[in-house]
Amino acid sequence: MCGITGYIGREEAVFVLLDSLKKLEYRGYDSAGIAILHEGTVTVRKTKGQIRALEEKLKNERIRGTAGIGHTRWATHGEPSDVNSHPQTGASDRIAVVHNGIIENYLRLKEWLQAREVVFKSETDTEVIAHLIDYYYRQGQGLLKAVQNTLKRLEGSYALAIAAADYPDRIIAARKDNPLVIGLGKDENLVASDIPALLAHTREVIYMEEGELAVLYRDHVELLNSQGDHIVRSPLHVDWDAEAAEKGGYAHFMLKEIHDQAKALSDTLRPRIKAGDITFDEFDFEEFCGNARRIVITACGTAWHAAMVAKYAFEYFARIPVEVDIASEYRYRNPVAQENDLFIVISQSGETADTLAAMRLAKKGGNRVLAITNVVGSTLAREADLVLFTLAGPEIAVASTKAFTTQLMCLYLLAVKLGKLRSRIDDTEYRACIEDLRRIPSQAEKLLSTQDLIQRFASRQFNKHKVFFMGRQFDYAISLESALKLKEISYTHSEAFAAGELKHGPIALVDTHTLVVAIATQTALFDKIVSNIRETSARGASSLVISWEGERLFESVADEVFTIPKTRDCFSPLLSIIPAQLFAYYCSIQRGNNPDKPRNLAKSVTVE
Ligand code: M6R
Repeated sequence: MCGITGYIGREEAVFVLLDSLKKLEYRGYDSAGIAILHEGTVTVRKTKGQIRALEEKLKNERIRGTAGIGHTRWATHGEPSDVNSHPQTGASDRIAVVHNGIIENYLRLKEWLQAREVVFKSETDTEVIAHLIDYYYRQGQGLLKAVQNTLKRLEGSYALAIAAADYPDRIIAARKDNPLVIGLGKDENLVASDIPALLAHTREVIYMEEGELAVLYRDHVELLNSQGDHIVRSPLHVDWDAEAAEKGGYAHFMLKEIHDQAKALSDTLRPRIKAGDITFDEFDFEEFCGNARRIVITACGTAWHAAMVAKYAFEYFARIPVEVDIASEYRYRNPVAQENDLFIVISQSGETADTLAAMRLAKKGGNRVLAITNVVGSTLAREADLVLFTLAGPEIAVASTKAFTTQLMCLYLLAVKLGKLRSRIDDTEYRACIEDLRRIPSQAEKLLSTQDLIQRFASRQFNKHKVFFMGRQFDYAISLESALKLKEISYTHSEAFAAGELKHGPIALVDTHTLVVAIATQTALFDKIVSNIRETSARGASSLVISWEGERLFESVADEVFTIPKTRDCFSPLLSIIPAQLFAYYCSIQRGNNPDKPRNLAKSVTVE
């Protein structure tokens, strides 16, 4: 996720901004930059890579100035490169902008500006913001008005800091759907994406609210609402330590990332729904999928579990055969590529060695490959024929959470769209599915607010010797992911199986030391899962069921029931995994582990 800083005061802005940016490094980034105001000029320096690469670039020059803006970029539009780094500037190079978020209508705005002879330098969505401000400013509107008129034209999300050469006494900031915090200092004021970037200067902060705009001067700050009216808000005093502040106040990155999911799901979904239709700006969907006779999906770990969900989803919506394989298996089993196979690879990092090898093999066999990944500029993103990015922001904890649910969101969008293209679902059903997907982020938010229940349950169950997850169809795929989460961070022996397999072996292991978690969201199969739970209870196992809100069936069958907000059965994985993630997290805490850095595991498995 990009990091933003802005400073106006008495100190050399270069040093203040670099220090603040370092405090935002935890957000993950691939490039960094600053813009400094001084005597009617704005000096921009930026580079691909780490902040130390930017420091290296700056070491032989002295950029004077006590006001400026800074940025760490997590690429979303355009690969990491010097030119795509922020700040981005307008046509006159006198207005500099840093941005966190996604401008959904940037292509339309770009065309509008190009028709007015504006020449673009980068591939970023952000550049349209700089050009629009510049455009309105050159029309004779003052800076504030130019910014306000620009904001009115933006669709999507943004946190912005803006510096203009003609206004060296101020920095402008604005937010919509992305955080910004103002720090009030003595003879200095700051703005940043997050508290850690402010703590060296002040602990008095104002959280900007949706649609607000702020003008920061050295000695005061003006806050305006979306109608342009001045508002007054008292500052809050922050007493977090710097480490807690980096995690947004959460105890661990994993917990923060679990809670990030509502926003990450919304960020991944929103740009792909236009006028009630699923659209992919990234590629020509019909051209890629139109002739598909079979889908082959390959991935590792959690991403493979997303592929398992996708198998059910593609078969359900589009009635197309799907083959799913673990990448390390696929690459060595001499697979049979067929003409008109649609090949999909999934990877959070885009750097997993086996997944890359599987993709290369598929390409060599003549398949075109669509990659679903979270990292712009990753090897997978560069080598695949087509890419669909999950817009989860950087995932720092080793155990994958928000990357998984956003992978699911991309896969559901593809499956529903393909169902429509192949006339397997009609218009009414198509629109109803889109509406249900739109509701998922707020349902996730609601579900996350029940975390205390799960925490209490974990505090009673964390010492179980074995935890088995079972379910049928979509619930089987989520059982696999739930068991992986639990074993990864709590080191509890956990397994998953298709509930119908219980009698074919796993039941031999069930005893009084076992917790059985049944995921039960496939309404047509409820009777069968009830029997499976009874079979395990009869052997002394404790049981937990994860099912729909309002469903009473399991109350008399299981020791405990967690409920999730109701959506259609086939979309349940987007929600049912959340209690399982929280359960794994709290078991890990109860056992005294560090869930962010589990033993023996790496975030990115770049070797076999
Ligand atoms: O970066 P990738 O999605 O390709 O990573 C694949 C697996 O290594 C990853 O999902 C791993 O299983 C996680 N630790 C799961 O939490």
